Amino acid sequence: METNFTTNITKNKKLIDWVNEIASLCTPEKIHWCDGSEKENEELCNLLVKNGTYTKLNEKLRPNSYLARSNPADVARVEGRTFICSEQEIDAGPTNNWANPKDMKEKLNTLFKGCMRGRTMYVIPFSMGPIGSHISQIGIEITDSAYVVTNMRIMTRMGQKVLDVLGDNGFFVPCVHSVGCPLKVGEKDVAWPCNPENTYITHFPETREIWSFGSGYGGNALLGKKCLALRIASKMAKDEGWLAEHMLIAGIESPCGEKTYIGAAFPSACGKTNLAMLVPPKGLEDWKVWTVGDDIAWIKKGNDGRIYAINPEAGFFGVAPGTSLKTNPNAIHSLEKNCIFTNVALTDDGDVWWEGLTDEAPKHLIDWKGNEWTPGCGRDAAHPNSRFTAPASQCPTIDPKWEDPAGVPISAFIFGGRLSKNAPLVTEAYNWAYGVYLGATIGSEKTAAAEGQAAVRRDPMAMLPFCGYNMGDYWSHWLNFGAKLSNPPKIFKVNWFRKNEQGKFMWPGFGDNMRVIKWIVERVNGKAKAVESPIGYMPPYSAIEWKGLDYPKADFYKLMEVDKSEYSKEALDHHAHFKPFAEQTKLPREFVSESMLLQLRLERCNEKWELPKE
Ligand code: GTP
Ligand code: SPV
Ligand code: MN
Repeated sequence: METNFTTNITKNKKLIDWVNEIASLCTPEKIHWCDGSEKENEELCNLLVKNGTYTKLNEKLRPNSYLARSNPADVARVEGRTFICSEQEIDAGPTNNWANPKDMKEKLNTLFKGCMRGRTMYVIPFSMGPIGSHISQIGIEITDSAYVVTNMRIMTRMGQKVLDVLGDNGFFVPCVHSVGCPLKVGEKDVAWPCNPENTYITHFPETREIWSFGSGYGGNALLGKKCLALRIASKMAKDEGWLAEHMLIAGIESPCGEKTYIGAAFPSACGKTNLAMLVPPKGLEDWKVWTVGDDIAWIKKGNDGRIYAINPEAGFFGVAPGTSLKTNPNAIHSLEKNCIFTNVALTDDGDVWWEGLTDEAPKHLIDWKGNEWTPGCGRDAAHPNSRFTAPASQCPTIDPKWEDPAGVPISAFIFGGRLSKNAPLVTEAYNWAYGVYLGATIGSEKTAAAEGQAAVRRDPMAMLPFCGYNMGDYWSHWLNFGAKLSNPPKIFKVNWFRKNEQGKFMWPGFGDNMRVIKWIVERVNGKAKAVESPIGYMPPYSAIEWKGLDYPKADFYKLMEVDKSEYSKEALDHHAHFKPFAEQTKLPREFVSESMLLQLRLERCNEKWELPKE
């Protein structure tokens, strides 16, 4: 095996020793140090086409783009196989799977032993955040998947330039990944190697290490994203006094050119990408939304008492189904070239399709499993979690400051869930502590096994699967973070998904969400009216811009209604949600008082609280 890379590629001894150590554990056929060049990417894509992993899309319709079909057993993050291996179990907290780091290391040593036999081991130097920014972090991912390399090239800043910044002694987060499918001599590879029975996504927050085995998909395998930029970074952030969040970042420009940046956390598949790229609706054309990021935000205090956010990623790994020129034109335009599509359908002319892309499906497709597909055949053409990997720079609304190493100043945080009942369109927290409480209790509905019955999964700050330490400590960290700011951002809670008795969405959503965002921005800038409800400040009907939308006043009152007995049940359910943290003495005291205040406010109001009629 060739290991004489030391002279020209890097002199970082820690890195060289580690790469050698992993190579002798995994015994790959060869080692490839990724330089991030065009030429390297082209060679890897050609190799992936030759192996049957990639289908090259029609060069005229979708230049320099590829379709990948995964193994049907490897289509999403696997939370049940994701572990936080802190020294003490309590430091992983009640919401994470914990494993003893020593035991897990032993397990990993067995799994990784010889796991890259017959394969190439790629070494990917990557930067989360603009290269060289004081907020950025360097990671090195070792992987035996060329699919991962080509995706990491879009999702991060990757290659030789990162090693140059790392220098001889720089710090990096070591990330080891294998699909877990060693090849016997002469054995032919499969198009999507993976090992679903032995999948482990493991994090060592104290030593800042990541080991991932068995899956080649998304957040399981592109280790810069959820593993580094959220699970490990959240722990770094706690230790160092900043925030690593599952948030989009967007700049909202008013007609007079004033720009207000927001950070918004919604659980997975609840509309972050859509909001990050929002196109204002009819009647609000003179407003503009600029995109900084669609999934992750790293947020630090500036010297001026404000807080600044960067998007640590360089691309979008977005949900394809439901994305269309109508719902998200800016995403569609970001996908015109240089993209990777995973588990979408292939059209007869070599382009891609997914449910919702067009009103009418093409007459014939190859579905995400590679089978013939015709409309009405009863199967999905694209997997519901099929995704696109697209360079952020291709987004028409990308913010001029999206790569500013100093970040953009954040003036408001928005938390949102997906609830069909009992959750008004928008509320503003009375103060920072109540805002953190609102974030800690957001949830989204998962249709339970019982037909039509919706169960709420609490997903605090949309970080449930991504917090690398005890969620109770994370809440305290949020409370402390805001308490130290002279002028903390206002906190809002939104819900685009309330339904009426007929099961129809009560709010048009998508572009029309701009009406809510406008109120939020004007609240931040002291320009909009609000009324007090038992659960937070709310916009009176007249504080929302209705131009261009025919939305009956009565419908808005219904949309904003608070049902006292239903909401009291909700408040009680917060207790159940907090109980495991209280038992570990990790529940912030502020939450106990916020909960009491909420219940008192509810007790004092009418059975149905409604906005004042105007
Ligand atoms: P991850 O990438 O998984 O973190 O998710 P995300 O939050 O970026 O999710 P994404 O934007 O891809 O959410 C997609 C889903 O939300 C689709 O089903 C959309 O149709 C739906 N969606 C987004 N915005 C709205 C809205 O305003 N109203 C309604 N009803 N649905 C929406
Ligand atoms: C999410 O699940 O929140 C994602 C997709 O953004 S993945 O990167 O696969 O985790
Ligand atoms: Mn996400």
